[in-house]
Amino acid sequence: MKLVTTVNDARAAVRVAKREGKRVGLVPTMGALHAGHISLVRAVKARCDFVVASVFVNPAQFGPKEDYSKYPRTLEADLGKLEAEGVDLVFAPAVEEIYPPGATTFVNVDEISERLDGRSRPGHFRGVATVVAKLFHILEPDLVFFGQKDAAQVAIIRRMVRDLMFPVEMVVAPIIREADGLALSSRNVYLSPDERREALVLSRALREIEARYRAGERDATKLIEAARAVFATEPSVRVDYIALVDPETLGDVATAAAGTLAAVAAFVGTTRLIDNAILDQNRRR
Ligand code: PAJ
Repeated sequence: MKLVTTVNDARAAVRVAKREGKRVGLVPTMGALHAGHISLVRAVKARCDFVVASVFVNPAQFGPKEDYSKYPRTLEADLGKLEAEGVDLVFAPAVEEIYPPGATTFVNVDEISERLDGRSRPGHFRGVATVVAKLFHILEPDLVFFGQKDAAQVAIIRRMVRDLMFPVEMVVAPIIREADGLALSSRNVYLSPDERREALVLSRALREIEARYRAGERDATKLIEAARAVFATEPSVRVDYIALVDPETLGDVATAAAGTLAAVAAFVGTTRLIDNAILDQNRRR
């Protein structure tokens, strides 16, 4: 496994692989790797012959009052995990490498960037789209892998790939959860034991929406109310949003259908967690 930290070295390493006719697959990450990230690496390995992972805590996607400075940084452990998975190349640049002084160009995916997480985290998706566009230019992946965990991010990157004609195929992998239902997240390390237990309310609220949907309820307002009642059982958890949306536009739907995205975000203590489910995924479209 090769570790590179500069744009030039990253480009050179990928170009060698491409000249050898290899199919390049990329997993962009912010590090603090857990089994969710590793599932993406394994998905790349199954479909590509040159596996690239990026590890970069992207300042542009954090708000001024968010957790950029305390975000977990565990590069040594991350490199060990990536090496064990047989990753070929790790790109772990410094901030100035990605945002040289004077960099003023950003990628805005209008409208959908203001929905769901974008509504409560202004500028977040501009930061995500910008760094992912840069990673595409530097690493020129044939395939790129994202987790369904960040469903709004998937919608925004999908739109950016289409609108800016990036020659890359997007693959979305399922959410990896703890045995009790909590979606894995690098931010779970912030949770105290009590908060860790309270955090289960996110997945419980989603299971409630799914159960009511299976029982025949289609009215989005009623499904959201049912989820809100589940959140009410954990009064210390502050709901940010409970939404039923079209997974591509992230626009609210009035009537749920197969493929509708049910998404929740909530503050457990000071930690903001997200989770989601695609309703009736197997019958989707
Ligand atoms: P990060 O939060 O590190 O996540 C990297 C990738 O892992 C994302 O595609 C995310 O959806 C996926 N992932 C996280 N938790 C997961 C889980 N429990 N199951 C499956 N996949 C999971 O998302 C980012 O970083 C950044 O926004 C990034 C795209 C790297 C741009 O900076």
